[in-house]
Amino acid sequence: MRLGIAGLGTVAQGLLALVRELGTHLDSCSDHALEVTRVASRRPRSEVDLLGATFDSRVDSLVSDDVDVVVELIGGTEAARQLVCGALEAGKPVVTANKALLAEHGNSIFELARSRGVSVGFEASVCGGVPIIHTLHTSLAGTQIREIAGIVNGTCNFVLSTMEERDVSLASAVSEALRLGVAEADPRFDIDGIDAGQKLSLLAALAFGMPIRSNAVRVEGISAVSREDVRLAGELGFRIRHIAQARCGSEAIELGVHPALIKCDSTLAQVRGVLNAVALRTSALDKLVLLGPGAGGRATAAAVLSDLLEVARNRGKPPPIGRTRTLAITGMKTPSRFYVNVPALDRPGVMGQLGEIMSNHDVSLDAILQKPADARTPRARTWVPVALLTSPITSSELATVLQELTPLTDPQRSIRTIRVMDSEY
Ligand SMILES: NC(=O)c1ccc[n+]([C@@H]2O[C@H](COP(=O)([O-])OP(=O)(O)OC[C@H]3O[C@@H](n4cnc5c(N)ncnc54)[C@H](OP(=O)(O)O)[C@@H]3O)[C@@H](O)[C@H]2O)c1
Repeated sequence: MRLGIAGLGTVAQGLLALVRELGTHLDSCSDHALEVTRVASRRPRSEVDLLGATFDSRVDSLVSDDVDVVVELIGGTEAARQLVCGALEAGKPVVTANKALLAEHGNSIFELARSRGVSVGFEASVCGGVPIIHTLHTSLAGTQIREIAGIVNGTCNFVLSTMEERDVSLASAVSEALRLGVAEADPRFDIDGIDAGQKLSLLAALAFGMPIRSNAVRVEGISAVSREDVRLAGELGFRIRHIAQARCGSEAIELGVHPALIKCDSTLAQVRGVLNAVALRTSALDKLVLLGPGAGGRATAAAVLSDLLEVARNRGKPPPIGRTRTLAITGMKTPSRFYVNVPALDRPGVMGQLGEIMSNHDVSLDAILQKPADARTPRARTWVPVALLTSPITSSELATVLQELTPLTDPQRSIRTIRVMDSEY
């Protein structure tokens, strides 16, 4: 099976290295030996062993008679879309690691693949080396997926776990991530949750057989999470993680990306640093968690390679995205508990009023943590942080409660809320 690889960056280099290292092992994995015949990228790289392949600077040169499968590893959306569509039009299967491409153009790409009867492999596009796409598409085909809850962005997870372990602010954890190269030079795409939203749209499409709807995902990043929130959550027995969550009900599919409080002893709370993890609840399996490296050249290249072997074994099929479900998409509507950090005015009676507002809305408090005013600046400080854990309520009920709480708080500060994820993952 002759491969044409687009790109010569981190993942493409990882792929070339794996193909070279695995050699005869790969030959024994299918009836077709893999051979890299073409590599195309903007610039040549003399230090990379191309395994005898021809190099070209134009990626459309890969749609050629001496290429059976096109591997798209250039990233971005426009040039990648043209390459992928060109290959599919020519009846060639495609393997890609590009979630941004699929989040934006996946529906038309999969439709084109179906019409040409060829496959699009995209295992590497979500959570790098964690085999979540094959698991959803193949291994779990005999069960209905009810819920997905994943830590799918390594940068956010690194930042949150560093804030907790070193008791530092978000800004200094982000600087550390930049220093170690686990965040992009402009980390906003990750920190603002956009990357996780794109990944969730792909996972939900595959899990629930619906079209890819990346614009419908309600996305909240981690930039509002403070050092104080991380500390208070810890005192309440929780860790904060950035969660991509999808839940399939009978009438709607709830999709949301948000920071969440997770019980310290749960599996997802143990996920630290740049690792990714995806927890699933299905009709047959109460709980399944996949955990592993979400990025990195070799791990991601191994996922690309698994897609290539799938094609070589003649098992590559267009996944059932967009085929069956037409359910409405909503944000997270199911009631949940919330952590509420109230910068309460430091004066008598405030706590009583706070409790009264909660009880007027039938919200009981599962925990209250009131921190003393800072002893060094007793006069300057006019507020004290009060952390609450509410009983389960919807986001709109919470919004009403917050409006009524506002007069009890320091006008210079805002009330912060974080969803509590009580599912047993
Ligand atoms: N890195 C990871 O850990 C990881 C994990 C999961 C998924 N992915 C996905 O894998 C894909 C590749 O990522 P990467 O990290 O390998 O990227 P990268 O290191 O930036 O490499 C991209 C390569 O593509 C080339 N390129 C970009 N645009 C091109 C164009 N229009 N025409 C020709 N060549 C072009 C670049 O050439 P120049 O360098 O000469 O510009 C470079 O060789 C992306 O979709 C990414 O989201 C990456």
